[in-house]
Amino acid sequence: MRSMEITEAIWERLLALRQGACDIAATDAAYGLYAPIAGARGSFVLAQVGQSLDGRIATPAGDARDVSGPDGLVHLHRCRALVDAVIVGVGTVKADDPKLSVRMVKGPAPVRVVVDCHGVLEGSESLFHDGGAPVIVLRSAAARGRPLPAAEVISLQPKACGLDPQDILDILARRDLLTVLVEGGARTIARFIDAGLVDRLHVAISPIIIGSGPAGITLSPIERLAGAHRPVTEVYSLGSDILFDCRLERRRAGDLVSDRQGEKVRVAHQA
Ligand SMILES: NC(=O)c1ccc[n+]([C@@H]2O[C@H](COP(=O)([O-])OP(=O)(O)OC[C@H]3O[C@@H](n4cnc5c(N)ncnc54)[C@H](OP(=O)(O)O)[C@@H]3O)[C@@H](O)[C@H]2O)c1
Repeated sequence: MRSMEITEAIWERLLALRQGACDIAATDAAYGLYAPIAGARGSFVLAQVGQSLDGRIATPAGDARDVSGPDGLVHLHRCRALVDAVIVGVGTVKADDPKLSVRMVKGPAPVRVVVDCHGVLEGSESLFHDGGAPVIVLRSAAARGRPLPAAEVISLQPKACGLDPQDILDILARRDLLTVLVEGGARTIARFIDAGLVDRLHVAISPIIIGSGPAGITLSPIERLAGAHRPVTEVYSLGSDILFDCRLERRRAGDLVSDRQGEKVRVAHQA
């Protein structure tokens, strides 16, 4: 396990890398953890889960505010500052009323994207009124939601699975939002992982046992462990939390990949 100490100089280098500076051959743990995000060129998807020792992300009543310890929270803010956009599901906005800001670190705030397929947001939620980074709300073309203050509302044609995560990435890419943090909740992250569209998964584990409540990651079921994800993983001590930095198999059209039952299949090209 690597111990993650981050100095101001390293953070400045990472912010410069995010702005297009050349990569450097640094061996610091912090650089190893964050440079793949800051230095990503083209489409890059990071998903992050802050969970308890027993794999929960909230209580059954939806209280999730202190699942991560203080260092886990700073880590999350660093991740936000290194991407173009942060995506959350409407369940997270309803439960947490988050600002999705970078107030714990120095750096730019990402565009905030909410997947609100059925148009249930009311417009009173904090992120529409806090004067923070721009907000984009993604709805199904059939949804009849309310007008939302200070937000761009984009309608997407739904597929069988709801809004196709690839369509979400494409619509953001058209706005030059190429590097993305999928921050939760569990259902939103699961859709991106099931679609094979996550490059890195960060699982930050905090020494707390909640005992019941939603799990951090619930994917479509598999019968055999041969179909399980077995990502190459680096482990970091953040201080209050332990972070698993997992490289997932990002599927691109034409790739030969393992499906969830362990069979090899070729990824279809989008219509
Ligand atoms: N600890 C953490 O790291 C963390 C982070 C974020 C949130 N949370 C907690 O997680 C809980 C919320 O998680 P959640 O899983 O219930 O909600 P969520 O993922 O935030 O939102 C789920 C909602 O978004 C919709 N949705 C997401 N992606 C979609 C897509 N591609 N197409 C169509 N609809 C889509 C879902 O539709 P369907 O109903 O069709 O699935 C559902 O209505 C809260 O308690 C929050 O506090 C914890």
